[in-house]
Parts: sequence; structure tokens; C-alpha cells
Amino acid sequence: MAKEDVMSAFYRLLHPRPAVLVTCVDREGRPNAIAVSWITPVAREPPTIAICVAKKRYSHGLIAETGEFVVNIPSDELVEAVHFCGTVSGRDVEDKIAKAGLTARPAKVVRAPIIEECPAHIECRVVQVVDCGSHDIFIGQVVAAYADPGAFEGGFWKLEAVRPLLHAGGNAYSRPEPTFKAKGRP
Ligand SMILES: Cc1cc2nc3c(=O)[nH]c(=O)nc-3n(C[C@H](O)[C@H](O)[C@H](O)COP(=O)(O)O)c2cc1C
Repeated sequence: MAKEDVMSAFYRLLHPRPAVLVTCVDREGRPNAIAVSWITPVAREPPTIAICVAKKRYSHGLIAETGEFVVNIPSDELVEAVHFCGTVSGRDVEDKIAKAGLTARPAKVVRAPIIEECPAHIECRVVQVVDCGSHDIFIGQVVAAYADPGAFEGGFWKLEAVRPLLHAGGNAYSRPEPTFKAKGRP
């Protein structure tokens, strides 16, 4: 059967993918949060991740200005708060994090806050910005990473207890199923 042309939605072929809340601050320390699903680990050593943020986002300017961000990983229960942060701009509301029903708390290393309701956090300092047209890739060196022990243990999510939220696209979300093992070596 001939395959259909899906060029206009090519990126959706790579969804569902993690939906995270990236927090950042302005020069005065006022925080903001943006939903991000274009995110990936990049290197183990030095510990590095990357997020792709459209140049027109309010958060883009904050991250570019301060060189810092925190990746907060929400569970599926936080879907409404994540969708709010992914559809409302910090340009248009005061204290977007509180308006989303979320709580900002100090991070360990960077000035951008963590979101208390999220079970895991990755604090980053920007080491490189790659211009990709509509979006920039912010490559971040991981300066701290921590998680609730009931949610993440021995290097794995405890999916029977907590399900990290996945974004399918638009207002469609999903959640990971419990893991199953391949026959080959771990
Ligand atoms: C689940 C979800 C994931 C998103 N992922 C991204 C992303 O990876 N990069 C991006 O630039 N925008 C993404 N967006 C859109 C922004 O989150 C959205 O435009 C947001 O309102 C920008 O907020 P800000 O203007 O306060 O920075 C996503 C939206 C949703 C709902």
C-alpha cells in the first residue's frame, strides 16, 4: 500500500513524547513556566540535555537572557496545569505558575525555580544555542537532577506509582504503559 504524504505533520511522527514543564526567570527573578515536549538527553558525560524552544515564546527570551532553566517532569495527574502552561503565555498573565495551580520553590543550584508538584527535576545551565529557524535548541549542562524516591528508583520510573505525562499533539495526551522486557541483554 502506498504511504501517505504527512510532511505537514512530520514532527508528530515523533510523538507521543515527554511533556515537561521548563521553568525559567527574568532578570529580576520573576519565574515563568513553559510546556515543552521537544526535549532529549544529549550526552552522559558531561551530563547534557537539549530543549527546542520557538523564538517567539516568552520563555525563549528568558532562557537566552539568563542562561538557565529547570526541567520539571510532571505526572499524568498534572495534565491541566501542563496544558495551561502550554497554551497561555507568561507575556499575558502575571505569575503563570500560580495561575496554573502550581507551586514554585527554590532550586538547588540555579535561580529558576522548581515546580513542587512534579516528581523529578533537572537543573541546567545553557552551554550552547543552536539556531534552527523557527526554534532554537538550548543545550543545557545538567548541574543537578533529583526525584521523589517513590517515583524513580534504581534509574527507572516506578510506573505502577507514577506515570510521566506524554504529549501526543494539540490537546491530546497519553501515559506510558508498564514496562516489558526484551529477551536480549539489559
Ligand atoms: C504539551 C505541550 C508541549 C509543547 N512543547 C513545546 C516545545 O517543545 N517547544 C516550544 O517552543 N513550544 C512548545 N509548546 C508550546 C508552548 O508551551 C506555548 O506556546 C506556551 O504558551 C509558551 O509559553 P511562554 O510564552 O510563557 O513561554 C508546547 C505546548 C504543549 C501544550
